[in-house]
Amino acid sequence: MTPEHIELVKSTVPVLRENGVALTSYFYKRMLDNHPELKNVFNLDHQSTGRQPRALAAAVLAYAEHIENPSVLAKAVDHITNKHVSLNIQADQYSIVGENLLHSISEVLNVPFESELIEAWKQAYLQLADILINAEKQKYEQLATQTGGWAGWRSFEITEIDALESGKRFTLKPTDGNAVTTGKAGAYISVKVKVPAQGIEQPQQFKFSAQQDNTEYHIEVLPEANHSEYDVANILLANYQIGDQVQVSAPLAD
Ligand code: HEM
Repeated sequence: MTPEHIELVKSTVPVLRENGVALTSYFYKRMLDNHPELKNVFNLDHQSTGRQPRALAAAVLAYAEHIENPSVLAKAVDHITNKHVSLNIQADQYSIVGENLLHSISEVLNVPFESELIEAWKQAYLQLADILINAEKQKYEQLATQTGGWAGWRSFEITEIDALESGKRFTLKPTDGNAVTTGKAGAYISVKVKVPAQGIEQPQQFKFSAQQDNTEYHIEVLPEANHSEYDVANILLANYQIGDQVQVSAPLAD
């Protein structure tokens, strides 16, 4: 990036931050309208609560602020890339997010898409995307090569459901019958379910409450009050039985 581009980006961060809600709601609406397939990727229940939507754009702004010294964000990069890898985010999806984010920035700042300012933001986004894509590539390789490991989604069958005081404990075994990576207490997996009557799937993370062995995983699923019909925990509790299958990603830690 040229010094002029860096200056342009940094000078617009405060305005974008002030308009954070407009930025993120415009961004998600535009992206999900143009790419409805991403409704299977982003958690629509989080969209409705507004919690996660702010996180992605906020991370881009935080990065832009530290663009001359991105290493200050190393911890955030580790956290984000673990989450992305747990959701099987792929390198080619970065151009979709980038295009929609840049259009949203142009909209919120009220500047033409074909302008030096948006070009500067494009360079900044590409720089950040490059960091994330490389980190994710390494993590996918690492997950795939560890004992019992895999990258992306793997089919698991629900083999046991035990009632808890509130909620249920699900036992999940891989349908291929092979070993799985052991998981530490506190590590999380993503579990992807079918949303009834919507024709889409939704993922959500579940943390292990105890160390897991290399044959099966146990997750405790608690009911979520005041959540939408896209809430994965509630869907599991209401609709999933022994013998049903879900998609699971390999354990990762925060
Ligand atoms: C430079 C680009 C990106 C940045 C800075 C970024 C940043 C973030 C951040 C900060 C989070 C929240 C992590 C947390 O839960 O604490 C997140 C989650 C997520 N990101 Fe990204 N992301 C980027 C690109 C992408 C791309 C290309 C995709 C795929 C289309 C994607 C999909 C997701 C999903 C699905 C989640 C979880 C959302 C949820 O649970 O609702 N992100 N990202």
